Order: sequence, then structure tokens, then C-alpha cells
Amino acid sequence: MKDTQTRRISAIEPSIFATMSQLAIKHKAVNLGQGFPDFDGPSWIVDAFVEALRTAKNQYAPMPGIQRLRNAVAGYHKTFYDLDWNAETDITVTAGATESLFSAMLALLDPGDEVILFEPYYDSYYANCLLAGAAPVCVTLHAPEFRIDASELAAAITPRTRMIIVNNPHNPTGRMFSRDELDIVADLARRHDLLVLSDEVYEFLTFDGNTHIPFATLPGMRERTVTVSSTGKTFGMTGWKIGYTIAAGRLSDAVRTVHQFATFAVNTPGQHAMAHGLEQLSEYLPEFRATYQRKRDLLFEGLRESTLRAILPQGTYFMMVRLPEGSEGDVDCATRLVTERRVAVIPPSVFYQNSEEGRSMLRLCFAKTDETLREGMARLQDC
Ligand SMILES: Cc1ncc(COP(=O)(O)O)c(C=O)c1O
Repeated sequence: MKDTQTRRISAIEPSIFATMSQLAIKHKAVNLGQGFPDFDGPSWIVDAFVEALRTAKNQYAPMPGIQRLRNAVAGYHKTFYDLDWNAETDITVTAGATESLFSAMLALLDPGDEVILFEPYYDSYYANCLLAGAAPVCVTLHAPEFRIDASELAAAITPRTRMIIVNNPHNPTGRMFSRDELDIVADLARRHDLLVLSDEVYEFLTFDGNTHIPFATLPGMRERTVTVSSTGKTFGMTGWKIGYTIAAGRLSDAVRTVHQFATFAVNTPGQHAMAHGLEQLSEYLPEFRATYQRKRDLLFEGLRESTLRAILPQGTYFMMVRLPEGSEGDVDCATRLVTERRVAVIPPSVFYQNSEEGRSMLRLCFAKTDETLREGMARLQDC
């Protein structure tokens, strides 16, 4: 039999999240690795889902998503960001942000195009580049500040560059890029006629009064940007897989062409429930942010006693910690922690192609109950 695997997938490594979660289950470890809450989202959203199930919202949704959810997305973009989107044409509901990213990259990249990723990167960007036949080109955000470096970014652009992927707030570093850093990207996108794929799934997970800057609000960027977000992150319901893309005109048409055949339509009752959620965003957000900020502080303070040096995140539910000088690399350390200390973490070197910096750090997730966090911190002391 011929080789059953295509060249397209041969360079894609198994996901580190699956590997670490399997080890966590095997060793009955406390899981500070994979990025999802170990507590439930709001019960009033669950009630809205049940209500939708019971009122016959159970057949296919329209391909771009139910109107009410698209209106709710357009509504909060107007209220919070003063961005005007046409809910009819510009917003597409997808099977999580994951499908948004996949559909956008398949739709907008041709084989041979180059795509700039900032490393450490969220792993699906790299895999999607390869699936689209495009070439990922990585630019490092150097620890511990993880700032966008204008000259390194400019040097990575070639005549084949087609897209820059920005993730803000940034997984895994917790950085929220400043207006100046985002302007660097926008200037280059304008100058070299590039598209920007802006992954803003953590747009509401922001701390210390920092405000999120949607990339599409930068001068000239509305027409060049495909924005991706996810109700799974906003409402702590990652299992429902309801995300969306926002893009103008032909960009949106292109994304819908892939979405039509990759997924077609996303589960209908969940869309009704998430529309209800987004309609209550202003009332919901203060407590949501306060809860996560408290968890961030609990972990950050708790780690002061340990040999790990935590880097305070401004957003997301991730925290990077630096390993003590002279320790083993991150993969060995994470493997030892899960097998011996029974605490699972993510080794971030898998999110880099160029730099070795990931080898001296670990990524922790604090979307966990206080009890899980305390137990995890106890197991990380003197590691
Ligand atoms: C940066 C980033 N983008 C996208 C996703 C995927 O989101 P979803 O669960 O909505 O598919 C995640 C999930 O961890 C993420 O961290």
C-alpha cells in the first residue's frame, strides 16, 4: 500500500496538550497544563441552552450563524470598541476559534505564501500554515518582556509574505501588546500589503485595568484584518466550541467559502445561549475579570516561595515561569513534574522554532479552582 499520509501532514507533530493531558490522567496529576477551566461556566447560560433545546432550536443553523448571535457580536464591537460591522455579511459563527483560524488560513493563503508568527505561538497557527501549504516564519518575542521587536519583524518580511498572525492578549506569555507595538505591525502590513489574522480570544481576560485594543481599530486595518474570538473563553465554556470571525467584504466571503464546506453550521442551541450571554456582557464582565485576576494573584504570590520565577501576565489565564539557573530543559522538567510530583504543566519550547528560550520556562494555567491552584503550588515548591 502507498504511504497513507500526505506530505502536508508529515511535518505536523502530535499536540503537546494531548500528550500532557494523557500523562496527567495516568499519574492522577493536578492539571495546570491544558488551558481550560476546571469549574463550570455561568448557570444562567446553561439555562439558556436548555431553554433553546426545549423550544425546538434543534435544526441546522444558517451557515454564517444565527442572526441573534451575529447581532450580539456586532453590538458589543460597537459598544466597547466603536467598530461598525455588518452582522449580515461580516460575522461568521464557527466551531470554536480553532475553526475560524483554520478556515481563515485555508481561505487566504496560497501554497508558497509566507506567514509571520510570533513565537512562542499558539500551536494551531503553525499546523494550519502547513495544512494550507504556506511557510511559517517565526519572529521571537524575547523573554522576560516578550515585546514585538520592530527590526526583527521587518527583517522577516520577504516578497512572499502574505500574512502576519497577531494573538493579543497573548497565549502563552500573558502579554497585552502596547499600542506602539501594534502600530509596528500595522505599519508593516500597510507598507507591504499584508493581511493580519488577529486572534483575540482572550479579549475580555484582561487585568489591572488594562484595556484590549482590537487590531481592526488601527488605521487602515479594518480592511486587512480577520479577527477571531471565542465564546468558549469569554464564558468559560470551552466544550461548546462556539467561536466567530469578523472581517469585511471579500475577506469574510473567503472565510465563509471554507466554513461552508468544513463545518457548514455550528450547533444551534449553543448559539442561542451564547447570544444571550453576549447580550449581558457589560453586567457579566466585572465579576469574570475579578475572579481571574484573583486567581492570577493567588498563583503569582504562591510561587514567590518556590524556586520558580513567575512573570506576571497582563491578560489570558496563562503564566510563564522561569526555571532556576542550571535546571534540566522544560520537556524533561515537565515530564518529571507530572510523573514524580503529579502536577501537569506545559513545556513551552514546543511553541518555538528559532529560539531556545522556551527551554528555561514552563507555562501554567490558572483557570482552576482555588483548591487545584493551592495543591498545584504545593507540588511545585522546591521542584
Ligand atoms: C490563542 C488561542 N486561540 C484559539 C484557541 C481555540 O479556541 P476555541 O476553543 O474556541 O477553539 C485557543 C484555545 O486555547 C487559544 O488559546
